[in-house]
Amino acid sequence: MGKKILGISFGRKMSNCDIMVKHALMECERRGCETAFIRADDLNVSNCTGCIACTIGTMTGRGRGYCVRHDDFDILDENIMQSDALIVACPTYETSVTGRFKTICDRIGPSHDITFRKAAYDEGLAAGKPESKLPDVRSFKKRTAALISVGGAMTENWIALTLPMMYELTFPLGIDVIDTVEYYGAMAHESVLGYPEMMERMTAVGCHIADSVEADSEEERVRWRGEEEGVCPVCHTRLLQVSHDAKTVDCVVCGSHGELCVVDGKIRVSFSKEEQERSRLRWGGKLEHSTEIKTQAQPSGTIKNLKELKAPYAAFVRDPFPFDPDAYGNH
Ligand SMILES: Cc1cc2nc3c(=O)[nH]c(=O)nc-3n(C[C@H](O)[C@H](O)[C@H](O)COP(=O)(O)O)c2cc1C
Repeated sequence: MGKKILGISFGRKMSNCDIMVKHALMECERRGCETAFIRADDLNVSNCTGCIACTIGTMTGRGRGYCVRHDDFDILDENIMQSDALIVACPTYETSVTGRFKTICDRIGPSHDITFRKAAYDEGLAAGKPESKLPDVRSFKKRTAALISVGGAMTENWIALTLPMMYELTFPLGIDVIDTVEYYGAMAHESVLGYPEMMERMTAVGCHIADSVEADSEEERVRWRGEEEGVCPVCHTRLLQVSHDAKTVDCVVCGSHGELCVVDGKIRVSFSKEEQERSRLRWGGKLEHSTEIKTQAQPSGTIKNLKELKAPYAAFVRDPFPFDPDAYGNH
């Protein structure tokens, strides 16, 4: 059996994202991989309500990390669990990912964080629980991904947040991103099929993913295959946030922290090896976060008179400003 590659498109039916992902999957099939394709818009996935039952379940060992709601997210979850690698494409809406993309990331959310799941798995196993009562063991499979962002605008900064946001889909499960493509100016072509260079790049995406799943060493599996090194040495993106005292910088995507420097006239970062291990893309950074939540989050009942304190807010009820439905619409 070949390795399993899952393609996920968040775009319109048979538009750019669909075709780009399918093209890369075709290359994976040529290389002997088995593939599956999901159009996110074909799935009926509701928003996370913030009940955190999934996370509390894994933290206490009472649950397996599943949402209390069961909808088509389960189909996507099962497909990710079966996969060895992902190829994901998302359109840019308002400089960032689409609403459905974010909805799906929230449903993956902390409940799929491998440090939460691994602790629950190990503790449950030690307590003699059967596999069927533990977080899915396939959560810990090593996977790689290629991320593709697409934007209609001709100016690159109109897609600036899309690719960085796409790491939200991969980091909870510790999926290693090995290639990224930012395709902007899509509206200058009727379809990406009229842009041979981009289609060739999708062939390369398929090759890179096939190479990574066939790799015989961990170093080769996670080797960065993107066209640019980027600025952050951990995630290869270019989105940095300046600290409040304006002395240091954080990588917004992966959380690596350090100093900005200029080498040979180029902006670079100096992130120590220790700081790089604290990235949320690495086990150390993930564990630090799950530990801070486990040890510092306050359980309900800590504030004894909370109901009383909330009373004025519960009593403060106001309607929205008046709305005339006839004033809306194109007629
Ligand atoms: C609501 C909405 C907002 C958009 N905002 C942007 C944007 O900020 N930047 C951009 O480059 N393209 C923007 N676009 C264009 C889409 O990114 C573009 O049509 C893309 O090709 C969609 O992917 P698809 O062809 O796979 O469906 C927007 C489109 C929609 C519908």
